[in-house]
Amino acid sequence: MNPKLEIRPLAAAPETRTQLAGMLVETVAQGGSVGFMHPLTLEAAAAFWDGALAAASRGERMILGGWNGPQLIGTVTLILNTPPNQPHRAEIAKMMTRPQWRGQGVASALLREAEALAVQNGRTMLVLDTASDEGAAGLYESAGYTFAGELPDYALKPHGGLTGTRLYWKRLEESER
Ligand SMILES: CC(C)(COP(=O)(O)OP(=O)(O)OC[C@H]1O[C@@H](n2cnc3c(N)ncnc32)[C@H](O)[C@@H]1OP(=O)(O)O)[C@@H](O)C(=O)NCCC(=O)NCCS
Repeated sequence: MNPKLEIRPLAAAPETRTQLAGMLVETVAQGGSVGFMHPLTLEAAAAFWDGALAAASRGERMILGGWNGPQLIGTVTLILNTPPNQPHRAEIAKMMTRPQWRGQGVASALLREAEALAVQNGRTMLVLDTASDEGAAGLYESAGYTFAGELPDYALKPHGGLTGTRLYWKRLEESER
């Protein structure tokens, strides 16, 4: 079934945080490399999103949600609090689509929206990293990101064992405004 996807920036609200936490726990359990180890408790996941949503309310990041009706089916974060000498740069992070909604363009749509918001915020250089093992390199390559290199043994996978990370960048043009 194709989702009727509606993408919008998320603000702190208990229901939103609950859905984000459930998505994070599920993603990590299925081996998604998004910064956490399995098993991740719902409480720890909710605490992470509390902090992230508070950062969003301070303008330090934007957390986009992809909704299918009342159900949050995907998310991506645009990190904006770069150092003073990098006002033109932002980072893509915490990209996730709920497993049953994968392969239907949800992540691509979230990425396009994050890029549009980046340009609106004066950010013309995007960077990101993704796990070498079972990461999302294909997603970023099909969205026009350039592979910059690989760092070995960068992180543990959610179920254990080291993986490298692949670094990507994309320059956004004025025409994408
Ligand atoms: C990666 C992830 C977000 C992709 O979500 P999705 O909604 O299924 O992605 P889309 O349907 O928009 O796919 C877009 C493109 O990326 C490709 N792609 C998606 N996931 C991929 C993966 N894990 N590896 C390689 N290519 C992938 C698709 O084939 C598609 O290519 P196309 O445009 O050439 O057809 C999802 O698999 C996920 O949540 N994974 C676990 C968490 C994770 O690894 N996040 C990335 C952290 S950097």
